[in-house]
Amino acid sequence: MNSKPIIVAPSVLACDFNYLGAECERMEKAGADWLHLDVMDGHFVDNISFGPPIVQSVAKVATVPLDTHLMVERPDHFFPRFIPYSSNITIHVEPDYDVGNTLKSIRAARTTCGLAISPPTLFEKVEQFLDQIDLLLVMTVNPGFGGQEFMEETMFKVKRAAALRARLGLDFHIAVDGGIHSDTAAIARASGANVLVAGTGVFRAPDAALAIKELRDL
Ligand code: DX5
Ligand code: ZN
Repeated sequence: MNSKPIIVAPSVLACDFNYLGAECERMEKAGADWLHLDVMDGHFVDNISFGPPIVQSVAKVATVPLDTHLMVERPDHFFPRFIPYSSNITIHVEPDYDVGNTLKSIRAARTTCGLAISPPTLFEKVEQFLDQIDLLLVMTVNPGFGGQEFMEETMFKVKRAAALRARLGLDFHIAVDGGIHSDTAAIARASGANVLVAGTGVFRAPDAALAIKELRDL
């Protein structure tokens, strides 16, 4: 259904923050392709996670690409602070700002850009931007917290994105984020997703390498 490589991106939000560097190294050894960094501002979502200093600390130890997911009210204002440390920056379509211009500015800074859509948001909101993005992040939980249950009803967005990508001859990744374990990853992959963001499912697994392998080798 999709020919893009499977990419497993552990979400650092689920790590033991007393051992941030070691936790990131543990994920790389376990086979992580990217590390996913969830930045939350307490406005766009009802939680505060971390900001540039933590992403910078991860960048100091990481050898894999950093995928920064901005869950903030003003992505246009804050994204430049994450540019030096990120390979990809994903912004949400929901807040009130110039999405198209911000996507362009991220790319102009030689960083790939992603666009995220929350479960209640209509797919039509992202359609107009599909030719300007490197990744579409379909949120499979309501953003804000790790450890929530996968919402299968979001899969129609993954399918729609995959169909439009083929029809329009585009090349963006399709990512899923929230409640990803081997069973839900199978559903997401069958729908057309190739980037699997998983927090609890890998960081809290008894054997992280096995958990990552299970996501990749389904
Ligand atoms: C949720 C975040 C996710 C979260 C996923 O707002 O965007 O990246 O860390 O955590 P799990 O895999 O535990 O659902
Ligand atoms: Zn995320």
